[in-house]
Amino acid sequence: MQYTSEFEQTENLDINGFFVGWPNPPSNQVFEKLLKSSYKVVLACEGDKLVGFITAISDGVLSAYIPFLEVLPAYQNRGIGAELLAKMKQELSHLYMVDLLCDQDLVGYYQKQGMSAATGAMLRNYQHQSGQAQSASSK
Ligand SMILES: CC(C)(COP(=O)(O)OP(=O)(O)OC[C@H]1O[C@@H](n2cnc3c(N)ncnc32)[C@H](O)[C@@H]1OP(=O)(O)O)[C@@H](O)C(=O)NCCC(=O)NCCS
Repeated sequence: MQYTSEFEQTENLDINGFFVGWPNPPSNQVFEKLLKSSYKVVLACEGDKLVGFITAISDGVLSAYIPFLEVLPAYQNRGIGAELLAKMKQELSHLYMVDLLCDQDLVGYYQKQGMSAATGAMLRNYQHQSGQAQSASSK
């Protein structure tokens, strides 16, 4: 498994198979834009196949938020998610706050990796789940 935080080096990657269970997932074009627009990314690759990724968005001063961590189903439970998170924590170690939201059953997973349980709130505009409109309007 190779890990990289340089998205530019990986333009010929196969990025299919993510956003499992999303009714209206982003296209590969939108996915690529999401990776390129993030403050930091860490990618797990096997050859030219992307098998896991984590992203962070940030003000670059005090705070960062981790919106995405996903490992392809066939590659789960091999420590790839933990490695992606460890590498992202290192990338963000100059910042004060690093937050993420997750389902209750994953809180223990993040606690095992040195994060603290917290409460949160969220808003989801499901009509924008694919990111298609934003992607087109900001071209
Ligand atoms: C969550 C996720 C990133 C973990 O990646 P992974 O590479 O499979 O995880 P690791 O191999 O590092 O760790 C496996 C551990 O996570 C636990 N785990 C995985 N998914 C879990 C879930 N949904 N709920 C609770 N625990 C989970 C496993 O039981 C295992 O526990 P163990 O270490 O006690 O045996 C991966 O399951 C995934 O992509 N899930 C779908 C997307 C998602 O939910 N992302 C998180 C958004 S907050």
